[in-house]
Amino acid sequence: MYTLLKTEKRARRGRFETPHGTIETPVFMNVGTLAVIKGAVSSMDLKEIGCQVELSNTYHLHLRPGDKLVRKMGGIHKFMNWDRPILTDSGGFQVFSLAKIRKIKEDGVTFNSHIDGSSIFMGPEESMRIQSNLASTIAMAFDECIELPAERQYVEKSVERTTRWLVRSKNELDRLNAKEDTINKKQMLFGINQGGTYEDIRIAHAKEISKMDLDGYAIGGLAVGETHEEMYRILDVVVPHLPQDKPIYLMGVGTPENILESVERGVDFFDCVLPARNGRHGHVFTSRGKINLNNKRFEMDEKPIDEGCECPACKHYTRSYIRHLFKAKEMLALRLCVLHNLYFYNKLMEDIRKALDEDRFHEFKENKLSEWSRGQE
Ligand code: GUN
Ligand code: ZN
Repeated sequence: MYTLLKTEKRARRGRFETPHGTIETPVFMNVGTLAVIKGAVSSMDLKEIGCQVELSNTYHLHLRPGDKLVRKMGGIHKFMNWDRPILTDSGGFQVFSLAKIRKIKEDGVTFNSHIDGSSIFMGPEESMRIQSNLASTIAMAFDECIELPAERQYVEKSVERTTRWLVRSKNELDRLNAKEDTINKKQMLFGINQGGTYEDIRIAHAKEISKMDLDGYAIGGLAVGETHEEMYRILDVVVPHLPQDKPIYLMGVGTPENILESVERGVDFFDCVLPARNGRHGHVFTSRGKINLNNKRFEMDEKPIDEGCECPACKHYTRSYIRHLFKAKEMLALRLCVLHNLYFYNKLMEDIRKALDEDRFHEFKENKLSEWSRGQE
């Protein structure tokens, strides 16, 4: 259940209660595609860096180790030793972005595994069965994430199909939740808004899915090649047409700047591979913008990655040492930078929530944007 605690214009401070605990929003979900954050980060680490929700992928876990195995091991929470909320994406994005050869029909999508090339079929029912076996807290509806740019006619057809897939997703999840041997009988479902960059299609679709009683509403098909301005324009027009008494999730977004702009437009949930991926390459976020630790100028730098940061990397190590670890190709280098970046994101969300609580979000946002663009001393 979602409780709206406070608003500042369209920005929202809320609380989402789930069977695996409460999520304070706005929130960033830390991406662990294969039930693990890449970069040797454990579920114990996640608690230390302030993670509230972990996100995993239906598509990847179905291929490896297989959702049936996860079910036999007691579900994804027990399997990865994480007792807080987990959201699973439906595969609707990964099938379209990762599988090379694919065929879309009314029933679903046939595609080739990116691991061994074998042919696999996934439709709404399959996606829900997999997510029910995984027993995540929140399941995502099966959708088509449309590649941009896209012809209007194609987008119309695709969005209509995504609506039919949403109805089928809901029916199947209701059936699974009522089954005696289902691990998480209270699995929640979020629907996904699509429509490319066509405002009218986006709005019509948002109205359509809002008629269904879902636990939350996501905006998909963004951050796939359009400009930031186009993405903000879509948020400006779509968010007001989604139920305001449910959480709103912007999928796959984004940079710290994107997050501030989207919170201002009413978004509550985010996820992105960016902080972990950047961290693995030594690109770290600081209160004065992003730096690359591989750079020679950090060779003898005694400062932590970000002064004032309370993460496990900054509390104990210097930029100089972490740079050395990268040069020596030591795994600890990746681990420390991923921990720092995820801490940075989770702390940013905590600071956003605090600013909203104290009615000073807009000022907070403007200050952050100017601090980040100032650059290093
Ligand atoms: N992740 C990022 N964008 C999307 C999307 O449009 N659909 C789904 N299912 N996942 C996403
Ligand atoms: Zn740090």
